[in-house]
Amino acid sequence: MAEGVAENTAGLMSKSPASDTGRMPFASRPASIHFDVFTLFPEMFGGPLQASMLKRAQETGHLSVALHDIREYATDKHHVTDEPPYGGGGGMVMKAEPVFGAVEAVLSGSGPGQDDEGMEPPVILLTPQGRLFTQEIARGLAGRRRIALVCGRYEGVDERVRQHLATDELSIGDYVLTGGELAALVVIDAVTRLLPGVLGDPTAVVEDSHVDGLLEGPHYTRPRSFRGWEVPEILLSGDHEAVACWRREEALRRTFERRPGLLGQARLTPRDREFLLRLLEDARRGRRP
Ligand code: ADE
Repeated sequence: MAEGVAENTAGLMSKSPASDTGRMPFASRPASIHFDVFTLFPEMFGGPLQASMLKRAQETGHLSVALHDIREYATDKHHVTDEPPYGGGGGMVMKAEPVFGAVEAVLSGSGPGQDDEGMEPPVILLTPQGRLFTQEIARGLAGRRRIALVCGRYEGVDERVRQHLATDELSIGDYVLTGGELAALVVIDAVTRLLPGVLGDPTAVVEDSHVDGLLEGPHYTRPRSFRGWEVPEILLSGDHEAVACWRREEALRRTFERRPGLLGQARLTPRDREFLLRLLEDARRGRRP
């Protein structure tokens, strides 16, 4: 069966743990997520899924990934998955039939099933035309139990996949990749690390860049002095409140300097706003506070 072939190709796919299909109440079950990935290149996933956090998340049952080779669902003798576009023009377009065939066969078959709320899994097409993937979208997806990711290839995907199969389209940035595979891995990584228990240090997620709409400030570790470049004194002070205040201000400063557009959406306290106003005044006067 195609699913099995794809799983064996990558040689790393774990089936969902038993609790995934069981009826345990949400609170007593470990947070876990299952991704069905539809791709013409399942071998692209091997390395990233077999290293570091994603590997561990599969071992601990937080994550399962099934790779489905779209080519296996092409019904013609040569397993054709692309054709020239109607109306002419360059390039090839990914055909609708094998993509529909793959997604429908897998999602209607046995598997981790629906979400707790009985929701159908989202079917997300990775494409440069999708909405921009953000931390907020990652947070939303981390609440789902099962997600289907469809990796586009060639110059595009038959429009009927967008219109009648995909429930969402995501882009990981304003550049064009050779296909959606790397984008799918980005989504899997960003979502999986948000599941409770996946990261060793749970505060890491809370302090992430983008979590409350700000970039993270600078980090330092030993040695205290490296080539004459010193760690800021305040970080050595042991004054936790002062350190927290400094970190917040540095996060605000970094966001102001590098991504000011994020500030409009950030969660800001009155004190944050005061600090930003000072930064703004200083920038107008051309100096750094
Ligand atoms: N496929 C090609 N480029 C992409 C992008 N930037 N994001 C998501 N999928 C893509």
